[in-house]
Amino acid sequence: METRAIIVAAGRGERMGGGLPKAFLAVAGVPMLVRSARAFDAAASVSAIAVVVPADRIDDTRELLRGLTKPATVVAGGERRQDSVRCGLAALPPGFDGIVLVHDAARPLVDVTLIDAVAAAAGRAGAAIPVLPVTDTIKRIEDGIVRATVDRAELGAAQTPQGFSIGLLREAYEAAERDGVLLTDEAMAIERIGRPVRAVPGSGRNRKITTADDLAWAEDVLGRRSGG
Ligand code: CTP
Ligand code: MG
Repeated sequence: METRAIIVAAGRGERMGGGLPKAFLAVAGVPMLVRSARAFDAAASVSAIAVVVPADRIDDTRELLRGLTKPATVVAGGERRQDSVRCGLAALPPGFDGIVLVHDAARPLVDVTLIDAVAAAAGRAGAAIPVLPVTDTIKRIEDGIVRATVDRAELGAAQTPQGFSIGLLREAYEAAERDGVLLTDEAMAIERIGRPVRAVPGSGRNRKITTADDLAWAEDVLGRRSGG
């Protein structure tokens, strides 16, 4: 089934601080959104890429993505992450009836194995996301007091790319919009209309870069792997 990627890179990066929007910050010399786009460019399952960026960055982004081999579209995003995803969905060719993979540009160490695994699982199940087991002991806290320990065996941390049949994702997004729901990922929209989402194993390297500490972690990982 044809699979297209939407990479959302239109956030402001407020928790990172600093001037540039987060997805444009370099990790070991290469902007996060370029690292993410290169991974999808290299993944055998993916036919084309749409990158969603702040409106004033469209031209810069086209320049940054010049080296890609697959067709890449650059479009302006919106206020919330879910608005940016909708902008990406609107940029798909009319009549597209395949799988869409939605990825956070802020996960620049995603690799082709994970991308292809999510695409394959979404093709079989209609919806699939990478999930990492939770290793910390998780507490429920109220007013600064620990109230309970949550059974971590039933918890997982959701990553991207998240893959869906385009019809299912559109239906779920319309319902979330109608109900005024704030989405923190795409799978949440599918869950709330009662449709199953398949969990595939996530990857520790595929961490979301949120703070300066995460950025330092990613630089460290790349430095160690490439020897400098
Ligand atoms: N994103 C987006 N459009 C938005 C908000 C977020 O495309 N309106 C993207 C970000 O660029 C990022 C991904 O969604 O690649 C995950 O969001 P997050 O990590 O929260 O990034 P930011 O929103 O940029 O950071 P912050 O929340 O700290 O401002
Ligand atoms: Mg954000």
